[in-house]
Amino acid sequence: MKILIIGGSGYIGAVTAHIASEHQHEVTILDNNSSGLDDNVPKGAQFIKADITDQAAIEKVFSDASYDVVMHFAARILVPESMKRPYDYIYTNSFGVLNVVEAATKSGVKNYILSSSAAVYGAPKEFPITEDSLKKPVNPYGESKLIAEHILSSYEQALNLNWAAFRYFNVAGAYAGVGPDYPFVSHVIPALFDAAYKNKPFTINGNDYATDDGTCVRDFVHVADIGRAHVIAAEKMLNGETLSQPLNLGSSSGYSVKQITDQFIASTGKQLDVSYAPRRPGDPDKLVASNERAHAILGWEPELGLEAIITDQAKWYEALPPTARVKNIA
Ligand SMILES: NC(=O)c1ccc[n+]([C@@H]2O[C@H](COP(=O)([O-])OP(=O)(O)OC[C@H]3O[C@@H](n4cnc5c(N)ncnc54)[C@H](O)[C@@H]3O)[C@@H](O)[C@H]2O)c1
Repeated sequence: MKILIIGGSGYIGAVTAHIASEHQHEVTILDNNSSGLDDNVPKGAQFIKADITDQAAIEKVFSDASYDVVMHFAARILVPESMKRPYDYIYTNSFGVLNVVEAATKSGVKNYILSSSAAVYGAPKEFPITEDSLKKPVNPYGESKLIAEHILSSYEQALNLNWAAFRYFNVAGAYAGVGPDYPFVSHVIPALFDAAYKNKPFTINGNDYATDDGTCVRDFVHVADIGRAHVIAAEKMLNGETLSQPLNLGSSSGYSVKQITDQFIASTGKQLDVSYAPRRPGDPDKLVASNERAHAILGWEPELGLEAIITDQAKWYEALPPTARVKNIA
């Protein structure tokens, strides 16, 4: 199978490229390397440097070669930045998808897999979150992803495009030397690495939530499980199965911040100065996605748990000097 992986030098795209290559698929990566790294690209994969918003460049990509499946990971990913620069987010994450899907379908591509996000649900009220839960984004990043899903649905209606939009929640872990190389530490796992490896204190916000240990529960899935879901979906599409729907790639159970902290200490052997602060306003007790539909449609559910997530990420983190991970996210 010939797969075009757009955004394939970034974290999740590159891991998926490695897994697709291991499954003997022919991988081409397209990326503008605004935040991706050359080193992430698997050996043997072709690389095209292009921007998804450049119509002429994207048309040329699809006139130069044909692809069985497009996997689209490329996006601007910083939620707070999207509140300051809504144009840039809608332009890249929605128009960028429109641009690629138009050129792809014109050239005969029939299958398209998009990285969507939990952000399409906004501040959900029902748990676990299912694909039918209310979609009410609370920032331009979430809106840009929901618009992109609608674009794919429109091309299904008009041109019978077979598509899937995978709504990821928190993706973590590392695979094949590729890890979450972000310049921010606002999420719990990057914050733990930052604290432990730079000798800073680590604060857990709130221990009075309605959960087993009182700390918030969030949904984490290993990046290799996410990559595997893409390859399963692509192979099903090539076998003639119609997917054409959004699917949550969630854990159905989640992990508490305390569980994650304890696992971090156990996996890395690091001393951590842990303290508790009051809960942050607006943080829900639990944010957990049901993976029932992904299981029914793809036969997929996460195989790697919290221990693999932290241990694999720690191996990756320790293998690279921190300065090698500074990236330029515009
Ligand atoms: N990481 C998560 O936990 C998470 C959660 C939900 C959704 N997602 C989605 O998953 C996808 C991949 O995220 P990631 O974490 O791997 O991010 P990433 O920044 O590591 O990867 C994104 C890739 O897209 C490329 N890119 C960005 N703009 C581009 C453009 N205009 N043209 C061509 N290439 C461009 C970047 O250079 C980078 O290689 C994104 O669509 C993101 O919104 C990620």
